[in-house]
Amino acid sequence: MSSDGQPDCRRRRLLFATSILGGAAGVAVAVPFVSTFEPSERAKSAGAPVEVDISGLAPGEMKTVEWRGKPVWIIRRSKEMLDSIARIADRVVDPRSERPMQPEYARNEYRSIRPEYMIAIGICTHLGCSPSEKFKAGSESGIDADWPGGFLCPCHGSMFDLAGRVFKNKPAPDNLQVPPHRYLSDGRILIGDEKQEG
Ligand code: FES
Repeated sequence: MSSDGQPDCRRRRLLFATSILGGAAGVAVAVPFVSTFEPSERAKSAGAPVEVDISGLAPGEMKTVEWRGKPVWIIRRSKEMLDSIARIADRVVDPRSERPMQPEYARNEYRSIRPEYMIAIGICTHLGCSPSEKFKAGSESGIDADWPGGFLCPCHGSMFDLAGRVFKNKPAPDNLQVPPHRYLSDGRILIGDEKQEG
């Protein structure tokens, strides 16, 4: 633990690795999961942007890639997922992500350049654990009957919806961070490129 109360880097990496392994196991029965973790040579180099092929993602599927040592989630949201986001604005802290920590193109209800895709850093904004996928809506999620689908942080119970928006009255103060990114084409995105946003 560092002096400011945050988990140190080693612990954070451990939590990340544990989450990837645990998430993959859970998702095998819960949701389609295209690729659990795709570190690339470029991702390993210092802060290089990571190009990702999203052409094979079907609605409801998610893939995780690494950028600057962090997990980045890419979800192709189905119509049902998008509908759930629109329904619960009053249950989340910052429904349109108006706090300045987010890039301009994440300051909207879906927190994305293209509503069909959610792209977010999979690290809880409380103390840095990696939340688990809980995509199933309702009581099947094991959370409650009103659960719209999203993510649950295993460390202290923060919950995020399918736009990465944090629910009210949870320890995490902010929505999941959206990394800088842009679309190279309909099927390819570049994560970490801050020169062109969108
Ligand atoms: S680290 Fe996620 S709720 Fe504390």
